[in-house]
Amino acid sequence: MQHDKVLILDFGSQVTQLIARRVREAAVYCEIHPNDVSDDFVRSFAPKAIILSGSHASTYEDHELRAPQAVYELGVPVLGICYGMFTMTVQLGGQVEASEHREFGYAEVRAHGHTQLLDGIQDFETPEKHGMLKVWMSHGDKVTSLPPGFKLMASTPSCPIAGMADESRRFYAVQFHPEVTHTLQGEALLRRFVRDIAGCKGDWQMGSYIDEAVARIREQVGSEEVILGLSGGVDSSVAAALIHRAIGDQLTCVFVDHGLLRLNEAQMVMDMFAGRLHARVVHVDASEQFLGKLAGVTDPERKRKIIGAEFVEVFQAEAKKLTNAKWLAQGTIYPDVVESGGTKTKKATTIKSHHNVGGLPETLGLKLLEPLRELFKDEVRALGVALGLPPDMVYRHPFPGPGLGVRILGDIRKEYADLLRRADAIFIEELRNTIDPATGKSWYGLTSQAFAVFLPVKSVGVMGDGRTYDYVVALRAVQTSDFMTADWAELPYALLKKVSSRIINEVRGINRVTYDVSSKPPATIEWE
Ligand code: XMP
Repeated sequence: MQHDKVLILDFGSQVTQLIARRVREAAVYCEIHPNDVSDDFVRSFAPKAIILSGSHASTYEDHELRAPQAVYELGVPVLGICYGMFTMTVQLGGQVEASEHREFGYAEVRAHGHTQLLDGIQDFETPEKHGMLKVWMSHGDKVTSLPPGFKLMASTPSCPIAGMADESRRFYAVQFHPEVTHTLQGEALLRRFVRDIAGCKGDWQMGSYIDEAVARIREQVGSEEVILGLSGGVDSSVAAALIHRAIGDQLTCVFVDHGLLRLNEAQMVMDMFAGRLHARVVHVDASEQFLGKLAGVTDPERKRKIIGAEFVEVFQAEAKKLTNAKWLAQGTIYPDVVESGGTKTKKATTIKSHHNVGGLPETLGLKLLEPLRELFKDEVRALGVALGLPPDMVYRHPFPGPGLGVRILGDIRKEYADLLRRADAIFIEELRNTIDPATGKSWYGLTSQAFAVFLPVKSVGVMGDGRTYDYVVALRAVQTSDFMTADWAELPYALLKKVSSRIINEVRGINRVTYDVSSKPPATIEWE
């Protein structure tokens, strides 16, 4: 079970997680840690290679972030990216200068010096036979003098040292960002670094990972019992399937229906887990309790808090009945645990309080089992498929913990939830059934998240010969890679037309459909 490991030190770039994802795509295990870890940590991690990330700060002089000295003393290959190149330069005796001019966006970089990192990797050749790369740059400062032992590896007209290498020590650095898809050969470059230069085996694959994860869970849990809160979402479902594979009936899933789920969701979850997998699932229909507590509450944050607290209460009551349970399993995934931002003090404003059950294990006196802690979302999905979960379930759009509670604006009523469920199901069905001829994919697959939102206002309409005075729904569909920013999806008019017509004709009580054309930021994906 010993995988070769790559250590990624994070200096606070927005895109550090992308470095990790590219490395994992090259079938190599890696972890992200803050740049200020100790020398001892770096040594005991025993990486086969180290990557130094970029930083959020655009200028080098803003801060004094450095890599631990051990990075350069371990004898393993090191790759510096953007800010990582600056810190490497300064720590190894070269020079960086602040520059007035910020380079941001597309650039064409010329490769120099036939390094192993760039050998055979290029997008095109100039008439003079220079290998060229199309890349994404984002930096203010520049390396003005190479550290001793380094040679020039890449340049652009405005950035004469855009890449450098000391091949005797296997130290490389690039000014551009190979982790973003705009750098066309970025994936090839990172793969070259971790697989060929560092010699990592490429043994990180979900199919073979199952045996390993199963063995680990068995060892951890022994003969004790585990409970898991099943939400129907991808993460908890994959965690449940994996743990069930490992320990069968020692696992009990608790599925809390808060009355704010999508159409037929409870049925689907029960069919899959109790029906097909023969897992032990306790189905708690707590919808009346939740809707009772929410009656008359209109403030989004209060609604979120009530749903979160109520969930904990219901779950706790169920858990207490399972007197043998010693473990609480959760579908925590790597992006939830990774400590990014370089320094540990970075603060963020709370835009929305996310529904979580973080306090549960302590109050219940349970140990925490988180078998997906080291996986990215795409890996969780691949694992789900490898475990035999239906791809439709595994590739579902995310659904927020508070469910329709944040998609019914203001006061939540059962009547509203029922209307919204039906409108939403029509929208999703049409997205799944409409294939985009250009890509051959369904619009469900081409969007990252799509749903309907219930607006508790009435508008006048006409149906047949009669006047209607009914509610409005808004359709929301976005495209995003990280859910931090998102664009509204340019759905075909014909699709919108069909969805609108079906909702108005089939869902009595809704007579108007609108489409949300707001991007995030400044809007958020959910409406509350
Ligand atoms: P926003 O609305 O903040 O949403 O742009 C970003 C992503 O997070 C999801 N979301 C939640 N997920 N519990 C969750 O598990 C929550 O309380 C919650 N609120 C928002 C949202 O659906 C989108 O994918």
